[in-house]
Amino acid sequence: MISAIYDRRSIRKFLNKPISREDLTEILESGIKAPSSKNRQPWKFIVVQGAEKEEMLKVFRRGIAREEKGNALLPQSRQHIPAAKYTVDIMEEASAAVFVVNTLGKDILSEMTPEEHIYEICNIQSISAAIQNMLLTAAEKGIGSLWICDIYFAYAEISEWLNSEGQLIAAIAFGYPDEFPKARPRKELEDVVVWRG
Ligand SMILES: Cc1cc2nc3c(=O)[nH]c(=O)nc-3n(C[C@H](O)[C@H](O)[C@H](O)COP(=O)(O)O)c2cc1C
Repeated sequence: MISAIYDRRSIRKFLNKPISREDLTEILESGIKAPSSKNRQPWKFIVVQGAEKEEMLKVFRRGIAREEKGNALLPQSRQHIPAAKYTVDIMEEASAAVFVVNTLGKDILSEMTPEEHIYEICNIQSISAAIQNMLLTAAEKGIGSLWICDIYFAYAEISEWLNSEGQLIAAIAFGYPDEFPKARPRKELEDVVVWRG
């Protein structure tokens, strides 16, 4: 497990080689083993492959085009649109895309009381733990992954296409790696840790 933590990389080039249903199932199983706030398990995973993935990519690209034209959910993030387009190209190469939904999530445009906000934060922490479990299980199996939040550039379009209860949180691309990137830099431990007592 520790070697998976150290060796995992975000993979952005994939081989044209399918992942077996058995391996994908094991990866998803590891997701649902994650801890969750009050054991609410507020997650749902939508596995998209083959022709469905082609449809999804069209929807994703349509959303980015809308974002570019000006009716933007992320007007301050226009400089990241080229990277979002690149992310869609990466998903095209991947064997599977898994969309992760917060089944208890509130619409991102809705107002929240502080208590609702905290509930949301706890649920998203739980879902993030599930995502990380899946990335590590994939790494352990020699399967590459990319955690994707560029989906927010096509949030309405992808959400409508998924047609699932709850709120879309992230996507993950899985595939056999066609690159072995060096570790990306990390902040020094002493810069991010405070020891007290
Ligand atoms: C919440 C989250 C969202 C991310 N979204 C994207 C994305 O949309 N596209 C992308 O190429 N990488 C995305 N990444 C990958 C990060 O760029 C990557 O984890 C970071 O640069 C560190 O590199 P490493 O994962 O290889 O250690 C995301 C990572 C996280 C945790």
